[in-house]
Amino acid sequence: MSHPIVAYSPEAAGQAARILSDGGLVAVPTETVYGLAADATDDRAVARIYEAKGRPSFNPLIIHVTGLEMASRYAVISPLAETLAAAFWPGPLTMVLPVRPDSGLSTLVTAGLDTVAIRCPQSLPAQAILAALGRPFAAPSANPSGGLSPTSAAHVAAALGEKVDMILDDGPSSVGVESTIIAVGETLTLLRPGSITVAQIEKITGQGVEVKEQTGTILAPGMMESHYAPKALLRLNATAPETGEAFLGFGATTAPGALNLSPSGDLTEAAANLFAFLHRLDDTANRIAVAPIPDTGLGIAINDRLRRAAAPR
Ligand code: TXA
Ligand code: MG
Repeated sequence: MSHPIVAYSPEAAGQAARILSDGGLVAVPTETVYGLAADATDDRAVARIYEAKGRPSFNPLIIHVTGLEMASRYAVISPLAETLAAAFWPGPLTMVLPVRPDSGLSTLVTAGLDTVAIRCPQSLPAQAILAALGRPFAAPSANPSGGLSPTSAAHVAAALGEKVDMILDDGPSSVGVESTIIAVGETLTLLRPGSITVAQIEKITGQGVEVKEQTGTILAPGMMESHYAPKALLRLNATAPETGEAFLGFGATTAPGALNLSPSGDLTEAAANLFAFLHRLDDTANRIAVAPIPDTGLGIAINDRLRRAAAPR
Protein backbone atom coordinates (compact mmCIF):
# COMPACT_ATOMS: atom_id res chain seq x y z
CA MET A 1 0.00 0.00 0.00
CA SER A 2 1.49 3.34 -0.97
CA HIS A 3 -0.18 5.69 1.54
CA PRO A 4 -0.99 3.65 4.61
CA ILE A 5 -1.22 6.64 7.03
CA VAL A 6 -4.83 7.50 7.89
CA ALA A 7 -5.83 10.20 10.39
CA TYR A 8 -7.92 8.86 13.28
CA SER A 9 -11.69 9.15 12.99
CA PRO A 10 -14.40 6.75 14.15
CA GLU A 11 -14.75 5.59 10.51
CA ALA A 12 -11.00 4.99 10.26
CA ALA A 13 -11.15 2.94 13.47
CA GLY A 14 -13.93 0.85 11.91
CA GLN A 15 -11.81 0.32 8.83
CA ALA A 16 -8.86 -0.68 11.04
CA ALA A 17 -11.03 -3.24 12.85
CA ARG A 18 -12.10 -4.74 9.49
CA ILE A 19 -8.46 -5.02 8.39
CA LEU A 20 -7.62 -6.80 11.66
CA SER A 21 -10.63 -9.07 11.33
CA ASP A 22 -9.42 -10.00 7.82
CA GLY A 23 -5.99 -10.99 9.17
CA GLY A 24 -4.16 -7.72 8.41
CA LEU A 25 -1.69 -5.60 10.38
CA VAL A 26 -2.57 -2.13 11.67
CA ALA A 27 -0.29 0.31 13.47
CA VAL A 28 -2.38 1.64 16.35
CA PRO A 29 -1.64 4.79 18.35
CA THR A 30 -1.64 4.29 22.11
CA GLU A 31 -0.76 6.66 24.95
CA THR A 32 2.55 4.82 25.49
CA VAL A 33 3.92 4.10 21.99
CA TYR A 34 2.47 3.04 18.62
CA GLY A 35 1.66 -0.69 18.52
CA LEU A 36 1.72 -3.14 15.62
CA ALA A 37 -1.64 -4.87 15.98
CA ALA A 38 -3.06 -8.16 14.74
CA ASP A 39 -6.12 -10.18 15.78
CA ALA A 40 -4.85 -12.06 18.85
CA THR A 41 -6.93 -15.13 18.00
CA ASP A 42 -5.61 -15.47 14.44
CA ASP A 43 -2.38 -17.51 14.16
CA ARG A 44 -1.51 -16.34 10.68
CA ALA A 45 -2.09 -12.68 11.51
CA VAL A 46 0.02 -12.92 14.68
CA ALA A 47 2.75 -14.68 12.71
CA ARG A 48 2.85 -11.62 10.44
CA ILE A 49 3.73 -9.43 13.47
CA TYR A 50 6.80 -11.56 14.21
CA GLU A 51 7.77 -11.52 10.54
CA ALA A 52 7.32 -7.76 10.10
CA LYS A 53 9.37 -6.97 13.22
CA GLY A 54 11.97 -9.71 12.78
CA ARG A 55 11.03 -10.63 16.35
CA PRO A 56 12.25 -13.91 17.86
CA SER A 57 9.25 -16.23 18.27
CA PHE A 58 10.11 -16.93 21.93
CA ASN A 59 9.25 -13.31 22.82
CA PRO A 60 5.54 -13.19 23.75
CA LEU A 61 3.13 -10.33 22.95
CA ILE A 62 0.78 -8.15 24.97
CA ILE A 63 -2.95 -8.46 24.24
CA HIS A 64 -5.04 -5.30 24.43
CA VAL A 65 -8.59 -5.32 25.77
CA THR A 66 -11.53 -2.96 26.31
CA GLY A 67 -11.57 -3.71 30.05
CA LEU A 68 -11.77 -6.35 32.77
CA GLU A 69 -14.75 -8.13 31.22
CA MET A 70 -12.87 -8.84 27.98
CA ALA A 71 -9.70 -9.64 29.96
CA SER A 72 -11.54 -12.28 31.99
CA ARG A 73 -12.30 -14.26 28.82
CA TYR A 74 -8.58 -14.81 28.30
CA ALA A 75 -6.95 -14.76 31.74
CA VAL A 76 -7.75 -15.78 35.29
CA ILE A 77 -8.40 -12.56 37.19
CA SER A 78 -7.48 -12.72 40.88
CA PRO A 79 -8.74 -10.19 43.44
CA LEU A 80 -5.26 -8.63 43.36
CA ALA A 81 -5.48 -8.23 39.57
CA GLU A 82 -8.95 -6.72 40.00
CA THR A 83 -7.61 -4.17 42.46
CA LEU A 84 -4.86 -3.17 40.04
CA ALA A 85 -7.26 -2.93 37.09
CA ALA A 86 -9.68 -0.81 39.09
CA ALA A 87 -6.88 1.60 39.93
CA PHE A 88 -4.90 1.76 36.69
CA TRP A 89 -7.10 0.64 33.75
CA PRO A 90 -7.54 2.08 31.25
CA GLY A 91 -3.91 3.15 31.28
CA PRO A 92 -0.28 2.13 30.87
CA LEU A 93 -0.24 -0.95 33.12
CA THR A 94 0.25 -4.45 31.68
CA MET A 95 -0.50 -7.41 33.94
CA VAL A 96 0.97 -10.86 33.36
CA LEU A 97 -1.73 -13.31 34.47
CA PRO A 98 -2.46 -17.05 34.16
CA VAL A 99 -3.87 -17.69 30.68
CA ARG A 100 -7.19 -19.56 30.48
CA PRO A 101 -6.78 -22.95 28.83
CA ASP A 102 -9.86 -22.22 26.68
CA SER A 103 -8.72 -18.70 25.77
CA GLY A 104 -8.71 -19.23 22.00
CA LEU A 105 -5.64 -16.99 21.76
CA SER A 106 -3.03 -17.81 19.16
CA THR A 107 -0.29 -19.78 20.93
CA LEU A 108 2.16 -17.43 19.19
CA VAL A 109 0.86 -14.64 21.44
CA THR A 110 1.99 -16.36 24.63
CA ALA A 111 4.99 -18.07 23.00
CA GLY A 112 3.86 -21.24 24.76
CA LEU A 113 3.92 -19.78 28.30
CA ASP A 114 1.07 -20.46 30.72
CA THR A 115 0.69 -16.72 31.30
CA VAL A 116 -0.57 -13.90 29.11
CA ALA A 117 0.30 -10.20 29.26
CA ILE A 118 -2.81 -7.98 29.17
CA ARG A 119 -3.24 -4.26 28.93
CA CYS A 120 -6.25 -1.97 28.61
CA PRO A 121 -5.08 1.14 26.77
CA GLN A 122 -6.48 4.58 27.49
CA SER A 123 -6.04 5.67 23.87
CA LEU A 124 -9.39 6.50 22.23
CA PRO A 125 -8.41 5.09 18.80
CA ALA A 126 -7.21 1.84 20.39
CA GLN A 127 -10.44 1.53 22.38
CA ALA A 128 -12.56 2.29 19.30
CA ILE A 129 -10.81 -0.46 17.33
CA LEU A 130 -11.18 -2.97 20.18
CA ALA A 131 -14.87 -2.17 20.56
CA ALA A 132 -15.46 -2.68 16.83
CA LEU A 133 -13.35 -5.85 16.71
CA GLY A 134 -15.02 -7.34 19.79
CA ARG A 135 -11.89 -9.26 20.77
CA PRO A 136 -8.29 -8.41 21.67
CA PHE A 137 -5.52 -7.45 19.34
CA ALA A 138 -1.95 -8.41 20.13
CA ALA A 139 0.45 -5.51 19.73
CA PRO A 140 4.14 -5.08 20.38
CA SER A 141 5.70 -1.71 19.76
CA ALA A 142 5.64 -0.98 16.02
CA ASN A 143 9.38 -1.02 15.37
CA PRO A 144 11.82 -3.58 14.01
CA SER A 145 12.87 -5.90 16.85
CA GLY A 146 15.51 -4.29 19.09
CA GLY A 147 15.11 -0.82 17.55
CA LEU A 148 13.79 2.46 18.93
CA SER A 149 10.10 2.48 19.81
CA PRO A 150 7.79 4.68 17.68
CA THR A 151 5.86 7.54 19.22
CA SER A 152 4.44 8.89 15.95
CA ALA A 153 2.88 7.61 12.73
CA ALA A 154 5.93 8.91 10.83
CA HIS A 155 8.25 6.74 12.97
CA VAL A 156 6.18 3.67 12.05
CA ALA A 157 6.06 4.60 8.36
CA ALA A 158 9.84 5.05 8.25
CA ALA A 159 10.62 1.74 9.96
CA LEU A 160 7.81 -0.61 8.87
CA GLY A 161 5.79 1.32 6.27
CA GLU A 162 5.70 -1.34 3.57
CA LYS A 163 4.84 -4.10 6.00
CA VAL A 164 1.63 -2.73 7.52
CA ASP A 165 -1.80 -2.49 5.92
CA MET A 166 -2.71 0.73 7.71
CA ILE A 167 -1.12 3.24 10.07
CA LEU A 168 -3.70 5.06 12.17
CA ASP A 169 -2.38 8.52 13.04
CA ASP A 170 -3.41 10.16 16.30
CA GLY A 171 -0.42 12.47 16.79
CA PRO A 172 2.45 11.90 19.20
CA SER A 173 2.00 9.37 22.03
CA SER A 174 1.38 11.30 25.24
CA VAL A 175 3.29 9.11 27.72
CA GLY A 176 6.15 8.13 25.42
CA VAL A 177 7.55 5.06 27.20
CA GLU A 178 6.02 1.57 27.10
CA SER A 179 3.63 0.33 29.76
CA THR A 180 4.73 -0.83 33.18
CA ILE A 181 4.65 -4.65 33.21
CA ILE A 182 3.86 -6.46 36.43
CA ALA A 183 3.51 -10.21 36.97
CA VAL A 184 0.55 -10.78 39.25
CA GLY A 185 0.52 -14.06 41.19
CA GLU A 186 0.49 -14.53 44.95
CA THR A 187 3.17 -11.86 44.84
CA LEU A 188 3.89 -8.92 42.56
CA THR A 189 6.98 -8.77 40.36
CA LEU A 190 7.95 -5.78 38.24
CA LEU A 191 9.07 -6.96 34.79
CA ARG A 192 9.44 -3.56 33.09
CA PRO A 193 9.36 -0.07 34.64
CA GLY A 194 6.98 2.46 33.10
CA SER A 195 5.03 5.56 33.98
CA ILE A 196 3.02 3.73 36.64
CA THR A 197 5.59 3.35 39.40
CA VAL A 198 6.30 0.65 41.97
CA ALA A 199 5.39 3.16 44.69
CA GLN A 200 1.93 3.69 43.15
CA ILE A 201 1.36 -0.06 42.84
CA GLU A 202 2.46 -0.73 46.42
CA LYS A 203 0.20 2.04 47.69
CA ILE A 204 -2.90 0.68 45.91
CA THR A 205 -2.32 -2.99 46.78
CA GLY A 206 -0.72 -2.60 50.20
CA GLN A 207 1.74 -5.21 49.03
CA GLY A 208 5.47 -5.08 48.25
CA VAL A 209 6.66 -5.35 44.64
CA GLU A 210 9.73 -7.42 43.86
CA VAL A 211 11.94 -5.71 41.31
CA LYS A 212 13.82 -8.30 39.28
CA GLU A 213 17.48 -7.85 38.48
CA GLN A 214 17.40 -6.53 34.93
CA THR A 215 20.01 -8.88 33.49
CA GLY A 216 20.45 -12.62 33.10
CA THR A 217 17.61 -14.91 32.11
CA ILE A 218 14.64 -13.60 30.21
CA LEU A 219 11.69 -12.55 32.36
CA ALA A 220 10.21 -10.22 29.82
CA PRO A 221 12.41 -10.47 26.76
CA GLY A 222 12.03 -6.70 26.45
CA MET A 223 14.37 -6.76 29.42
CA MET A 224 17.15 -8.09 27.23
CA GLU A 225 20.27 -6.01 27.74
CA SER A 226 20.49 -4.46 24.28
CA HIS A 227 17.15 -3.07 23.17
CA TYR A 228 15.72 0.20 21.95
CA ALA A 229 19.03 0.50 20.12
CA PRO A 230 19.58 3.47 17.83
CA LYS A 231 22.21 3.16 15.08
CA ALA A 232 24.26 5.80 16.89
CA LEU A 233 26.40 5.01 19.95
CA LEU A 234 25.11 6.43 23.21
CA ARG A 235 27.14 7.79 26.13
CA LEU A 236 25.07 8.25 29.29
CA ASN A 237 25.36 10.61 32.28
CA ALA A 238 27.33 13.09 30.20
CA THR A 239 27.67 16.63 31.47
CA ALA A 240 28.80 18.02 28.09
CA PRO A 241 29.31 16.74 24.55
CA GLU A 242 32.75 15.70 23.34
CA THR A 243 33.91 16.56 19.80
CA GLY A 244 31.66 14.87 17.25
CA GLU A 245 28.88 14.05 19.71
CA ALA A 246 25.31 15.28 19.48
CA PHE A 247 23.87 16.16 22.90
CA LEU A 248 20.58 15.19 24.48
CA GLY A 249 20.08 17.52 27.41
CA PHE A 250 17.85 17.52 30.48
CA GLY A 251 17.07 20.52 32.64
CA ALA A 252 20.05 22.82 33.09
CA THR A 253 22.48 20.23 31.68
CA THR A 254 22.44 21.19 28.05
CA ALA A 255 24.69 22.44 25.25
CA PRO A 256 24.49 24.85 22.32
CA GLY A 257 22.40 23.28 19.54
CA ALA A 258 21.37 20.37 21.78
CA LEU A 259 17.90 18.88 22.00
CA ASN A 260 16.64 19.13 25.56
CA LEU A 261 14.24 16.44 26.88
CA SER A 262 12.80 18.98 29.28
CA PRO A 263 14.39 22.40 29.83
CA SER A 264 12.42 22.73 33.08
CA GLY A 265 13.54 19.28 34.31
CA ASP A 266 10.06 17.73 34.09
CA LEU A 267 10.24 13.90 33.84
CA THR A 268 6.78 13.55 32.26
CA GLU A 269 7.79 15.90 29.46
CA ALA A 270 11.13 14.11 29.13
CA ALA A 271 9.45 10.69 28.72
CA ALA A 272 7.11 12.05 26.06
CA ASN A 273 10.09 13.43 24.11
CA LEU A 274 12.52 10.54 24.67
CA PHE A 275 12.01 8.31 21.62
CA ALA A 276 11.18 11.17 19.22
CA PHE A 277 14.42 12.97 20.15
CA LEU A 278 16.47 9.75 19.91
CA HIS A 279 14.96 9.13 16.44
CA ARG A 280 15.90 12.69 15.39
CA LEU A 281 19.45 12.55 16.69
CA ASP A 282 19.93 9.07 15.24
CA ASP A 283 19.17 10.49 11.79
CA THR A 284 21.90 13.11 12.08
CA ALA A 285 24.66 11.84 14.39
CA ASN A 286 26.85 8.78 14.91
CA ARG A 287 27.41 9.45 18.59
CA ILE A 288 24.97 10.83 21.12
CA ALA A 289 25.82 11.98 24.64
CA VAL A 290 22.92 12.08 27.11
CA ALA A 291 22.63 14.23 30.22
CA PRO A 292 21.98 12.52 33.59
CA ILE A 293 18.28 11.89 34.32
CA PRO A 294 17.16 11.67 37.97
CA ASP A 295 16.49 8.01 38.82
CA THR A 296 13.16 8.61 40.54
CA GLY A 297 9.52 8.23 39.44
CA LEU A 298 9.23 8.22 35.65
CA GLY A 299 13.02 8.75 35.51
CA ILE A 300 13.44 5.04 36.38
CA ALA A 301 11.66 4.03 33.14
CA ILE A 302 13.58 6.63 31.12
CA ASN A 303 16.93 5.42 32.51
CA ASP A 304 15.92 1.79 31.84
CA ARG A 305 15.32 2.59 28.15
CA LEU A 306 18.52 4.66 27.91
CA ARG A 307 20.64 1.92 29.53
CA ARG A 308 19.37 -0.64 27.02
CA ALA A 309 19.86 1.75 24.12
CA ALA A 310 23.48 2.23 25.25
CA ALA A 311 24.19 -1.47 26.01
CA PRO A 312 26.87 -3.30 24.00
CA ARG A 313 25.38 -5.06 20.95
O1 TXA B 1 3.07 0.11 26.07
C1 TXA B 1 3.15 -1.03 25.64
O2 TXA B 1 3.13 -2.01 26.40
C2 TXA B 1 3.27 -1.22 24.11
C3 TXA B 1 1.95 -0.76 23.48
C4 TXA B 1 1.90 -1.00 22.00
O3 TXA B 1 0.87 -1.39 24.11
N1 TXA B 1 3.58 -2.57 23.79
C5 TXA B 1 4.80 -3.10 24.02
O4 TXA B 1 4.96 -4.40 23.55
O5 TXA B 1 5.70 -2.51 24.58
P1 TXA B 1 6.39 -5.10 23.39
O6 TXA B 1 6.13 -6.37 22.67
O7 TXA B 1 7.33 -4.15 22.76
O8 TXA B 1 6.80 -5.43 24.84
C6 TXA B 1 6.08 -6.42 25.54
C7 TXA B 1 6.94 -7.04 26.60
C8 TXA B 1 8.04 -7.88 26.01
O9 TXA B 1 9.23 -7.59 26.72
C9 TXA B 1 7.58 -9.30 26.31
O10 TXA B 1 8.65 -10.16 26.50
C10 TXA B 1 6.78 -9.11 27.57
O11 TXA B 1 6.11 -7.92 27.36
N2 TXA B 1 5.79 -10.19 27.75
C11 TXA B 1 4.72 -10.49 26.99
N3 TXA B 1 4.07 -11.57 27.47
C12 TXA B 1 4.71 -11.96 28.57
C13 TXA B 1 4.53 -13.00 29.52
N4 TXA B 1 3.53 -13.87 29.42
N5 TXA B 1 5.41 -13.08 30.54
C14 TXA B 1 6.43 -12.19 30.67
N6 TXA B 1 6.65 -11.18 29.81
C15 TXA B 1 5.82 -11.07 28.77
MG1 MG C 1 9.11 -3.11 22.11
